[in-house]
Amino acid sequence: MCGIIGYIGPKKASNILIDGLLALEYRGYDSAGIATIENNEIKIMKDKGRVKNILNLEGYNELQGTYGIAHTRWATHGKPSKENSHPHFDNSNTFAVVHNGIIENYTELRNFLIEKDYTFYSQTDTEVIPNLIHYYYSNPNIDSNGENPDSSYDIVLDNNDSTKVNNTSRILVAITQATKNLKGSYAIEVISPLIPDTIIVSRKDSPLVIGTSNGENFIASDIPALLTYTRDFYLLDDNEFAVITKNSIEFYNEKLENHKKEIKNIEWDASAAEKNGFEDFMLKEIFEQPNSIRETIGSRLKLNEKCNFDDLEISSEYLKNINKIFIVACGTAMHAGLVGKNLFEKLCKIPTEVDIASEFRYRDPIIDEKTLCIYVSQSGETADTIAALKLAKSKGAKTLAISNVIGSSITREADYTIYTHAGPEIAVASTKAYTSQVTLFSILAIHFAELLGYDKGDITINSNGETITLEDFKKDILDLPKKVSIILEDTSLIKKFADEAYNEKDMFFLGRGIDQTVALEGSLKLKEITYIHSDAYASGELKHGPIALIENGIHVISILTDESLLKKSISNIQEVITRGAKTMIVTNQNLENNNFDFVINIPETSPLISPILSVIPLQLLAYYISKNKGLDVDKPRNLAKSVTVE
Ligand code: F6R
Repeated sequence: MCGIIGYIGPKKASNILIDGLLALEYRGYDSAGIATIENNEIKIMKDKGRVKNILNLEGYNELQGTYGIAHTRWATHGKPSKENSHPHFDNSNTFAVVHNGIIENYTELRNFLIEKDYTFYSQTDTEVIPNLIHYYYSNPNIDSNGENPDSSYDIVLDNNDSTKVNNTSRILVAITQATKNLKGSYAIEVISPLIPDTIIVSRKDSPLVIGTSNGENFIASDIPALLTYTRDFYLLDDNEFAVITKNSIEFYNEKLENHKKEIKNIEWDASAAEKNGFEDFMLKEIFEQPNSIRETIGSRLKLNEKCNFDDLEISSEYLKNINKIFIVACGTAMHAGLVGKNLFEKLCKIPTEVDIASEFRYRDPIIDEKTLCIYVSQSGETADTIAALKLAKSKGAKTLAISNVIGSSITREADYTIYTHAGPEIAVASTKAYTSQVTLFSILAIHFAELLGYDKGDITINSNGETITLEDFKKDILDLPKKVSIILEDTSLIKKFADEAYNEKDMFFLGRGIDQTVALEGSLKLKEITYIHSDAYASGELKHGPIALIENGIHVISILTDESLLKKSISNIQEVITRGAKTMIVTNQNLENNNFDFVINIPETSPLISPILSVIPLQLLAYYISKNKGLDVDKPRNLAKSVTVE
């Protein structure tokens, strides 16, 4: 995880670096640091804890450098501490490096460098990088194989200063040699007094974008962090290098051949990444859902028209030939996939499996050219999901990415990409991304049904065999924003339950059928931002073990939206009430005359998409409990927004 920022231009770099780090703090907040160069000397300010701590460090206000690099850390190797904070130096203090990713062979590299008399001052994997760069810089006759370097490097630098050109090319060679030794993932920025007014960057399997504007350039782990400065971006590819000055950006491949790159203009609204009067990003994002769902629907779905997927070149011939869909993702995105499975099976009659990316990769899944693999990732940077996508590609399957972040790594690996267009999601706990992912799945399933010719008949929506017409289903989807707004109008009962339950140690979430997928999501939300242990179960499974945990006063939340499962679900709730449970029910059914403690009524919709409505009270419940406990809702402990490590 971790976030990196860089700036080079006419302005004081420190303010811009801090601004960028604050925008990236969702990626990790164990420590932060910045480095600038002034009067040929690297100035580093770093400390344990949040980015704002840097502002109080002695000397921060005196920093005058107009270029620099910065980092906010999610600790992997070495505890959160000042020594383990980035930027890291080589032993001679010549190279300062920030790094996002994990160097898997760092022990080996560390031992190699120790043999060469290098000393290590941190427990991080990163510290090998500046020292390796120094090693290759000081030993230009040795390459990454321990042999003489290939003399055919074709380095052309846009600079008139010949000493600097020589140093820049020599350092660039040293960086390429160093990165050739790295196993794992990295996005790095390097500065050195040997190459004034220059930042060199590279990446492999960790994100890095370069924003460009008149006379200044920016580097970041993601696009939203830079949207207040520019809309023009270069998206660096794996094993690509860039030499950045304030007026130029030169790109090189791993053979150091110079090449041109296309600028991508980004249309996102920077103000969408601000709190706009809400206390927390999570609350803002929960309340944005009517709009984010509307954006996801966009022009894709209209009544009495076929869905519009002009941006997705999947043909009916291809679709008729596939025999299975895999939906692969992590966490909340995987929970959205569970709803997607039901949609594809009901509307398109294609057997669909859902898998956790970190499991899928290692279980040798049965995939061939007749499998369509769909990968869901809000950030588009989740390492396990990307690796799972690469695996399917290597087996000949077609891959489709569903992401929220334009140009993210997953979208560049997949054969096809569709975007959720939910707008930037900043809070670590995912809310609007989930409802947008499910919305997109519902429209995609209709599109596939149309391509397969299943759009003429009705759709079976529940276990009683009830059906609705496709047009009615479309109407249900188009009505979602309005219905989400209705739920958000009155949150008082959810707050009341939160006031009563916030001191609990354990909670349970129950549901049958589609409601079980929402129970899983509600339970995840609660765990991650309130630190209350919770479990989600299929209601009918309770009596096979977990009911032993139900005791007097325990809080049980049940989701009840599928009429065909109503009676059975109510019986299961009665079983926990008999054993002393306090209950909150989220339902679109008429549940008068029952002995439930709290009933949260939500508008009716087809069970195929009811998770989009039933999840909202659960998001709010987790939020209010977290607030009652005085926790940092947007940045829960031990977590980060983009999980770029495996
Ligand atoms: C939970 C949450 C995580 C993410 C998961 C996948 O609130 O946010 O479970 O859903 O880490 O992230 P993406 O969708 O970025 O791949």
